[in-house]
Amino acid sequence: MDKRPIGVFDSGVGGLSILRELRQLLPNENYVFLADQQHLPYGGKSERQIIDYSRRATTYLARQNIKLLVIACNTVTCYAKDALREKCPFPIIGTVPALKPAAEQTRSDSIAVLSTRATARSKELKGLMRNFCQGVKVLNIGCPGLEKVVENGKLNSANTTFLLERYLKKVKDSDVDYLVLGCTHYPFLKDAIREIAGPSIKILDSGAAIARRAKALLKLNRFKNTQEKRGKISYFTTGDRNKFNIAASRLLQTKVSSKKIKI
Ligand code: DGL
Repeated sequence: MDKRPIGVFDSGVGGLSILRELRQLLPNENYVFLADQQHLPYGGKSERQIIDYSRRATTYLARQNIKLLVIACNTVTCYAKDALREKCPFPIIGTVPALKPAAEQTRSDSIAVLSTRATARSKELKGLMRNFCQGVKVLNIGCPGLEKVVENGKLNSANTTFLLERYLKKVKDSDVDYLVLGCTHYPFLKDAIREIAGPSIKILDSGAAIARRAKALLKLNRFKNTQEKRGKISYFTTGDRNKFNIAASRLLQTKVSSKKIKI
C-alpha cells in the first residue's frame, strides 16, 4: 500500500485532459496537479527556458513526496524529459503525440499532427516520424494560440473557429484520415475540431495510453494505492488561482479549488 501521490505537471489546464484519464483508470490514487501558468505558453519558449521551468516544477512536486511524475505536456516531454530524468528518484512518464497508432491504422497513408510550435519543430517529433511513419505522409502543423482558447475557456468562440479553420485547412484539402492531437490542451477542443475536420477523420490523443502506462508502472514498482475510497486531488498553479479554478471546474465539470504557489 503506497499512499504517496502521483505528480501531474503541465504549463496549464491542458494537463487536466491527462489527469481525467488517470483518475478514471486509477481512481484510488492521490494526485498533485501543477500548472505553471505563470510561464504559459511553453510552446513559444526556448529549450533552455522549457528545461528551467520544468526543473523547478519537478523540484516542487518532489517536495510533495510523489511516487511517480506524469509529464502531462508534449512540449516538456520533447525538450526536457532527459534533463528531468537525470538523478530523479521517482519514475517519469512523458507524453508524446500518438503518431505510432495513427500510422498503424491509417488507410490513406496520410495523417496529420497538431501541436505547439516548439513540439512541431522538435527533434523528438522528427524522431517519432522517422521511427513509426515510414511510408506515411505526415502533415506537421504548429498551432500557436490554440492552447490559449482552452485556458480562457473559449472552446466554441468565433476566434476558436477562426484558428481551427486556419490550422485545419491543409488537412481538409488532403486525404488525411487520422488526426493526432499533439498538445494536451487540444482534447478539450475535440468537438470543435471534429466539426471543422469532418466526421470521416478519426481523432487520436495520448491520454488513455498514458493512464495505462501509469497503471503498469505502479504495478511493476509495487507503488499501488490499494485503499478502497477515491483518492484526493490537490491543485496548484503558479498563475492566477481564480482563473485556474474557473477554467478547471468547467473542463472537468466538477468544482476545483487550487492554491497559488511560486516555483
Ligand atoms: N499542453 C502543452 C503541450 O502538451 C503545451 C501548451 C503550451 O504551449 O504551454 O504541449
